[in-house]
Amino acid sequence: MSSSIPVVLHGAAGRMGQAILRVLDERADLTPVAALVRADSARVGQPVYPFSERTLRYAGTLAPDLAASVLIDFSVADAFDHGLALALERKLPFVSGTTGLDARQRAALERAAASIPTLWAANFSLGVAVLAKLVAAAARAVPEWDCEIAEAHHAGKHDAPSGTGLMLGREVAAARGQDFDAVARYSHAGNARARGTIGFASTRAADIVGEHTVMFATAGERIELVHRATDRMIFARGAVAAARWIAGRPAGRYSLEDVIFS
Ligand SMILES: NC(=O)c1ccc[n+]([C@@H]2O[C@H](COP(=O)([O-])OP(=O)(O)OC[C@H]3O[C@@H](n4cnc5c(N)ncnc54)[C@H](OP(=O)(O)O)[C@@H]3O)[C@@H](O)[C@H]2O)c1
Repeated sequence: MSSSIPVVLHGAAGRMGQAILRVLDERADLTPVAALVRADSARVGQPVYPFSERTLRYAGTLAPDLAASVLIDFSVADAFDHGLALALERKLPFVSGTTGLDARQRAALERAAASIPTLWAANFSLGVAVLAKLVAAAARAVPEWDCEIAEAHHAGKHDAPSGTGLMLGREVAAARGQDFDAVARYSHAGNARARGTIGFASTRAADIVGEHTVMFATAGERIELVHRATDRMIFARGAVAAARWIAGRPAGRYSLEDVIFS
């Protein structure tokens, strides 16, 4: 156990945080050493693994002398800055799946890569990594066809469209040589569809884990590329694999593709 990589988890109370704690509990090569929640959370001081020999407790702050080798952040956009600041302060490789980031936060992530290794992905599943490649190929093959992206998630999701939906839209725009921000349409209300745009639609209901459909349509036919996640453990396993992969690497911006396809 002495060579096990010590991991800090930021956003430990959430759905993904809990899934990541389960994955970490199953792996001998990584050890959770801090499970960070909001400082005013009722979980602070509670045991993370109440029915195990592990003594880890939820914490609102990171102990100053704690040794760690990587920080995983799955929180909310409002808490992302705090997670990134912690990683920069402690010089920890930073793996994040938090979505809903604004342009300032994306720029901060970009700057951070000059001092620490960073890996942010809108979606940590292998299936979506493959879907993104299929979507880019289809966008290039039928450059004139209308493209619409529909996504569905659980009722508690904060951001819309989903980070994955936006990532897929960026793949389409890049494959077609378009400026994504200029062609993205988040509502068609009051307007006929403009050629060359990429439309988004979001559904939020009950416990849907995550579904994405990218449609390419022309008169008389259409292609639909669909990914359905039925268990958020796939994202947790992908994020933990990324943490294992990035620990000990030099500063720089890495992608999930580097982990999966390298
Ligand atoms: N990349 C991927 O593969 C992937 C997959 C699924 C989800 N996501 C994204 O990952 C994020 C988390 O998703 P989720 O489903 O776990 O959401 P969630 O259940 O709402 O969890 C978010 C957690 O962040 C916590 N938090 C808020 N402020 C914090 C702070 N200052 N310090 C520490 N924790 C803080 C919240 O604490 P409280 O409970 O105390 O409010 C909550 O437990 C979202 O952005 C989601 O879109 C990404």
